[in-house]
Amino acid sequence: MKKLRVGVIGVGGIGFGAHLSGYEKLADKVEIVAVCDIDEAKLERASKRYGVSETFTDYREMLKMKELDAVNVCTPNYLHHPISIAALEAGKHVLCEKPLALNAEQGEEMVAAAKKAGKLFMIGVNNRYRDESQKLKRMIERGELGEVYAARTGWIRRRGVPFWGDWFMEKAKAGGGPLIDIGVHMLDLTRWLIGNPKPVSVTGAIYHKIGNYLVTEWDKNDPVLAGALASGAADKIYDVEDSAFAFIRFEGGITLELNVSWALNTNKEHNYCELYGDKAGASLSPLTVFGEKEGTLVDYTFKTDEATTHHTEIAHFVDCILNGTELISPAEEAVDVMRILDAIYKSAELGEEVRL
Ligand SMILES: NC(=O)c1ccc[n+]([C@@H]2O[C@H](COP(=O)([O-])OP(=O)(O)OC[C@H]3O[C@@H](n4cnc5c(N)ncnc54)[C@H](O)[C@@H]3O)[C@@H](O)[C@H]2O)c1
Repeated sequence: MKKLRVGVIGVGGIGFGAHLSGYEKLADKVEIVAVCDIDEAKLERASKRYGVSETFTDYREMLKMKELDAVNVCTPNYLHHPISIAALEAGKHVLCEKPLALNAEQGEEMVAAAKKAGKLFMIGVNNRYRDESQKLKRMIERGELGEVYAARTGWIRRRGVPFWGDWFMEKAKAGGGPLIDIGVHMLDLTRWLIGNPKPVSVTGAIYHKIGNYLVTEWDKNDPVLAGALASGAADKIYDVEDSAFAFIRFEGGITLELNVSWALNTNKEHNYCELYGDKAGASLSPLTVFGEKEGTLVDYTFKTDEATTHHTEIAHFVDCILNGTELISPAEEAVDVMRILDAIYKSAELGEEVRL
């Protein structure tokens, strides 16, 4: 069988550590034919480590390669839109990292480009690919929780501002802070589990309270902060929120509470997803079901496979292209997620509920 020829654009953290390594594990089906990054040191590191001879500092040049079937877009968020569209227009299948784009309007343009090109366009929402997420999804589809009418989800970091990044803290490049960075994962996962209901209204609040204090006053002996300071964190633009809280109503009366932070005075880092159905409830992680049996309350926890979700996701992308398998995370579903995020920021700005 002919191998799928792939390239990765942006070989920084996730491109190098998760996408290229994911393809490397699929060497019987995939050939990594090109890598691209504007940072020549990172480009060289990727080319040497993964044995890729074609290297590019301009993605437009890379997209001219005829011997390239698919690309992964692993750049900062503000480049997802132009690069994905250029790749689709060049006739490549695209796996783009989350979030889809900076906002829903960009997302719509990207999805339209994929439709026009007739190419696969998948979003790297890797939490859908957790074994426990897949099991819970199947249970919900079989009706084992009954009607799921409410949910709570979130990703809380106590001291986790990505000072190390070049762009994460800049609104123009990232689109926002923890809400669009890690909140998007939990919002996407929870909404997908309950069948992607249409959002109706959103109330949100965002705060920028303690991130700056961390840079200027917090314990300079802390190893994470010392590293951040050494990389110039104190001089970087930091104009995004460091926590966000939202309440979302979906059609059918379903409600969702979402809480996220990079910096918050609370317990240590954790993420969670709790679903409340009229037959049973469930939570992640680990996958636990709260039900009833023999007239008594029972809780049971699943033993699940902890394979690297990014690798499962990449293997699925390849399977969809080579075998026509249906995409688990098509970009269309990410547009409504972007609409919700846009509405949370809007609601926070206006100080009132926003209807979608
Ligand atoms: N799914 C996940 O678990 C997960 C985890 C981390 C990051 N991400 C997402 O992946 C993306 C990248 O994040 P990261 O942490 O790897 O960031 P990063 O800053 O470590 O890497 C981004 C890379 O893109 C390169 N780049 C910038 N402009 C470019 C251009 N014009 N052409 C080619 N390369 C360019 C940078 O030089 C850098 O090497 C983001 O969208 C982020 O949200 C997803």
